[in-house]
Amino acid sequence: MRLLVAEDCGFIGSNFIRYMLKKYLDYEVVNLDKFTYVVNPADFKNIEANLNYSSIKSDRCDSVIVNEIMKKADKVVHFVAESHVDRSIDDGSIFVRGNVLGTSVLLQSALANKIKKFSNLSTDKVYRSTKEGSFTETDNLNPSSPYP
Ligand SMILES: NC(=O)c1ccc[n+]([C@@H]2O[C@H](COP(=O)([O-])OP(=O)(O)OC[C@H]3O[C@@H](n4cnc5c(N)ncnc54)[C@H](O)[C@@H]3O)[C@@H](O)[C@H]2O)c1
Repeated sequence: MRLLVAEDCGFIGSNFIRYMLKKYLDYEVVNLDKFTYVVNPADFKNIEANLNYSSIKSDRCDSVIVNEIMKKADKVVHFVAESHVDRSIDDGSIFVRGNVLGTSVLLQSALANKIKKFSNLSTDKVYRSTKEGSFTETDNLNPSSPYP
């Protein structure tokens, strides 16, 4: 099984990959990450030594590179995000490019390459902010910033 993980270097992606490589010894994990300012090298230090792991530094908006990686993948898990709410309020354009266009590039490529399963991680902030309670996937989308 060859798994493309878009974002291994972020907080959640690095932990996800560490878990998958430990649990599924026959999985090959390929990661695509732009290594933005949020990346803490300590979060993925131990992962790099695993022979079933490889990493490609690229922007997910680069359809040529995304396609090259996607050709060899069976399944995709997508965590990548510009993920800081306050920055998105200061300048939403980076978020629209990275989060909307980037997700679209990955989805189009997955479709073209007949990927068996595509999982997309997002945030409950797509619904709105809440101090209590929770949302369901059928709630109306009502984000209060460009981030989600
Ligand atoms: N951390 C949380 O508490 C939390 C809570 C709810 C939902 N989420 C969601 O989980 C996902 C991952 O969150 P996180 O906290 O791990 O984020 P993070 O900010 O720690 O990591 C984001 C990663 O995406 C990469 N990246 C950003 N733009 C890119 C681009 N254009 N091309 C390639 N790589 C790019 C960065 O280099 C980084 O490694 C996001 O969708 C986020 O909304 C996170």
